[in-house]
Amino acid sequence: MARIIAGVASSHVPAIGAAIDNKQTEEPYWKRVFSGFEKSKEWMANAKPDVAIVVYNDHASAFSVEIVPTFALGCAAEFPPADEGWGPRPVPVVQGHPELAAHIAQSVILDEFDLTIVNKMEVDHGLTVPMNLLFGSPKQWPCPVIPLAVNVVLYPPPTAHRCYMLGKAIRRAVESYPQDLRVVIFGTGGMSHQISGPRAGLINSKFDKAFLDNLTKDPKKLTRIPHLEFMREAGAEGIEMVMWLIMRGALDDDIEEIYRFYTVPASNTAVGHIILENKRGAAKGKKSAAGKKPVAGKHKRAAARANHRNVRRGKR
Ligand SMILES: [Fe+2]
Repeated sequence: MARIIAGVASSHVPAIGAAIDNKQTEEPYWKRVFSGFEKSKEWMANAKPDVAIVVYNDHASAFSVEIVPTFALGCAAEFPPADEGWGPRPVPVVQGHPELAAHIAQSVILDEFDLTIVNKMEVDHGLTVPMNLLFGSPKQWPCPVIPLAVNVVLYPPPTAHRCYMLGKAIRRAVESYPQDLRVVIFGTGGMSHQISGPRAGLINSKFDKAFLDNLTKDPKKLTRIPHLEFMREAGAEGIEMVMWLIMRGALDDDIEEIYRFYTVPASNTAVGHIILENKRGAAKGKKSAAGKKPVAGKHKRAAARANHRNVRRGKR
């Protein structure tokens, strides 16, 4: 059985990718940022996931404003880096996992979360920058990746609660996949930032740090944050943080915070990063407790749906 062993959240500031590509990582300004991910790379090298699900947003690279899917799951065999205006980033082509992606699509859609299935897609800095921060700059990425693109660029983005519940549906999907795979899920974007308008350059460290605290301890509190509060407190682009809640929803309620890093600024953005491990079955080769019995929530929900159908049909 496949299982999610951990979640990682990271900002995906495009200038971080440019600093890597232009070999500026040792410059004092950037060293401050990159030094915060050294332990994370070690952690990832030890975790050795079989697959990564990377929740990110496309920045008008794969999807123009003509078509803006709310949730788009990458089911292709590979995802080349996108040309974001100065040529594709010099990073490896991302290899997909079409079998697990198709399984997730089927499970999540039949679980009443409508995803857009994407069989051809280029991926931009939203996905490749966190990959660099956690995997370094290898010739080939060390594991297949399933991209999940979320609309946070055109109103209305999905709510924080919807994202959290999608994470739970993804977890049920992964745990119903028969092959024994260890999966890490990324939530990317944020933290507080605003790139245009009178409040350009806005950073709210107090909001960001409270968000990080609650991501570990009380994620349900974060699911009640409305869009306007994200925008008021964390800037127009701070809404990207709803994607972190997909990652958090895919984890157990009770998790262990392994590592956290926060620094300001990188470009004009607050950089936040956290690693959360499921306590059960995180170690390599350890069997997940959920593998021994069905996931209770699934049955409760199925029973509720059957009950709802019976009520509509006049039986109970
Ligand atoms: Fe972004």
